[in-house]
Amino acid sequence: TFVRRPLLAGNWKMNGLRAALTEVQRVAAGFAGAPRSRIDLLLCPPATLLAAASAIAAPAGVFLGGQDCHSEPSGAHTGDISAAMLADAGANFVIIGHSERRADHGESDALVRAKALAALAAGLTPIVCVGETRQEREAGRAEDVVGSQIAGSVPPGFAPNRIVLAYEPVWAIGTGLTPTPQDVARMHGFARERLEAALGAGQGPGVRILYGGSVKPSNARELMSVDDVDGALVGGASLRADDFLAIAAAW
Ligand code: G3P
Repeated sequence: TFVRRPLLAGNWKMNGLRAALTEVQRVAAGFAGAPRSRIDLLLCPPATLLAAASAIAAPAGVFLGGQDCHSEPSGAHTGDISAAMLADAGANFVIIGHSERRADHGESDALVRAKALAALAAGLTPIVCVGETRQEREAGRAEDVVGSQIAGSVPPGFAPNRIVLAYEPVWAIGTGLTPTPQDVARMHGFARERLEAALGAGQGPGVRILYGGSVKPSNARELMSVDDVDGALVGGASLRADDFLAIAAAW
């Protein structure tokens, strides 16, 4: 049997000035308590805060991550950030292919896969995001969409502990809506089968699959106890240390 260590990740998105480092400080202080032995905790602040956040939180055992990286290792790409730069600033992980980047920047599955490969080459663990829109779910296409995103975005041939998958139904992000535990269980089980196909026989059970979309202290325990849910990718509720630590207490 596989023991998958839960991963609780906070995605700050485009939020956080230097004053918000006090929240990082609070998370680090809180993590020194009970949850530390049971879960991995990860904060993904904006890149501008990464180095400072790392200096505060890494000594407490909190992992840091980026929210995106370029698919190439370096070069003439004004405004972009490479995976090596994130690693150099203290990141261990990087979110790749978030639905907001797929929508705002037109990121395709192929580009997401190239970015995941760049992350792996720099020693980062990519958190590859997939998820259907409301229209796709209503049309009964949720599994088709997620299946093809996994097939197209997850780089093949890597050990299951080098990659994390995040299932974020687009309609649940920032809306307060969540799928039922039954729907989450069904999709995570399906995603694990598809990961097995993408990574190779026997590899599916080793991959951590996070649920994301309106996770908050009041629903974390229920969502995190669902089969095949190995953690959460949290947006809004990760901005305040109290809320984030309350979610960590679900374990
Ligand atoms: O990446 C996490 C995110 O998309 C979920 O956002 O605010 O619904 O927790 P939120």
